[in-house]
Amino acid sequence: MNGGRGRRTPAGAAVQFPADFVWGAATSAYQVEGSPFADGAGMSIWHRFSRTPGRIADGSNADVACDQYRRYRDDIALMRELELQAYRFSIAWARVLPAGRGPVNTAGLDHYSRLVDALLEHGIQPCVTLYHWDLPAALDDRGGWVNPDIAGWFADYATVMFRALGDRVPLWSTLNEPWVVVDGGYLHGVHAPGHRSVFEAPLAAHNLLRAHGAAVQAYRSLGRGQIGIVVNLEPKDAASDSAADRAATARADASMNRYYLDALFRGEYPAELAGIFGAAWPDFAPGDFALIGAPIDFLGINYYTRSVVQDDPAAFPVRARAVRQAGAVYTETGWEVHPSSLIRLLDWVKERYGDLPLYITENGAAFRDPPTAPGGRVDDPQRVEYYREHLRALHTARARGANVRGYFAWSLLDNMEWACGYTKRFGLVHVDFATQLRTPKSSAFFYRDVIRSRGAVLGAPSHP
Ligand code: FCB
Repeated sequence: MNGGRGRRTPAGAAVQFPADFVWGAATSAYQVEGSPFADGAGMSIWHRFSRTPGRIADGSNADVACDQYRRYRDDIALMRELELQAYRFSIAWARVLPAGRGPVNTAGLDHYSRLVDALLEHGIQPCVTLYHWDLPAALDDRGGWVNPDIAGWFADYATVMFRALGDRVPLWSTLNEPWVVVDGGYLHGVHAPGHRSVFEAPLAAHNLLRAHGAAVQAYRSLGRGQIGIVVNLEPKDAASDSAADRAATARADASMNRYYLDALFRGEYPAELAGIFGAAWPDFAPGDFALIGAPIDFLGINYYTRSVVQDDPAAFPVRARAVRQAGAVYTETGWEVHPSSLIRLLDWVKERYGDLPLYITENGAAFRDPPTAPGGRVDDPQRVEYYREHLRALHTARARGANVRGYFAWSLLDNMEWACGYTKRFGLVHVDFATQLRTPKSSAFFYRDVIRSRGAVLGAPSHP
């Protein structure tokens, strides 16, 4: 395999993951499915958002995306070819409950039932995310995540899913990245539903967490597998030793990393948040934290990057901004490649929140891939290198005691990258969006070799 950056990586110590370590890849419904109204589905907030001029970088939408709603059998064959053991996907809430609550749309539910069966037939473990950002539009009309009733709506929807798939799905996540839902959707308006309100953001965050807790409680009487939540974590490093930069770094960490984890595992919000939100910081009913803290079976961590933070009084409301590092490698989304931060992140989670079973539920990178060669090859050496270094870091973290049970590459396919549209490609598999042709990239074959060898290929030199 190519090393990508023209340098030699020395042969590491022998790398070997245990036989029961789970290797998978992830996607989400809105980003890959297409066919938004098939079989009686209702509208989602991302459908609306993508039709609001100026919201999506390339003016695109996910009406077709990867067409996985119709091509899932082909994609499962591809997963098989790549020797994936698990597939993390999400359910589009509005396919199952077109109005978000009330009558169940059996045809929508049946789609996911067939998907789960097809995965199991091919020996691939289905891992379901209940909410990956595509709220039914009808619920947004009732206030969406700002309406406290949403905890009950979500638990009802989750209950429908647990009843339908609970016998076949071993791993469930309630929410994907509540921080992004709130920061993008309610605070800065760059994601659906596109609100910019410092008053709504803490309410939305709290209701997301209450909804999570209510779904976990519902699962306990219905499910037979494991349930958890997925958060995105990003270590924050101060740009300098100044008191101002260090305080800004603590605020950035509180507003992203500790916000959700402290609420889930310590029954409180970080002290910095009241200062960040000021008059917009509400009083929360103390009893809510018992619901939020309902015991979970695992924590899912999405790790992409770290950030280096500087004080910035003009950056509302956290008063902090990320600064680029000279000499560092950045991906196409402007995220610094920083594998060693995965190790200290996993150390930190264990030290602060205890020895929970963990999964890396997303990790991956957008790079500008070269055009597909006529022979059907896409060489993506930078992505290969990204995976190699992060999987090595993961192995080191496990050797230090991190209780990580599995890893999911983001993403199986190039797909609709939210407000970036189709301009950023994260796939192990290249998708030609004009023809829907799938071409596994070098990174897909590299990942297959990692899975096959249980990581042994990671210990080999990058340039034999
Ligand atoms: C994560 C999202 C996922 C994808 C990757 C690149 O924040 O969970 O849907 O957008 O980033």
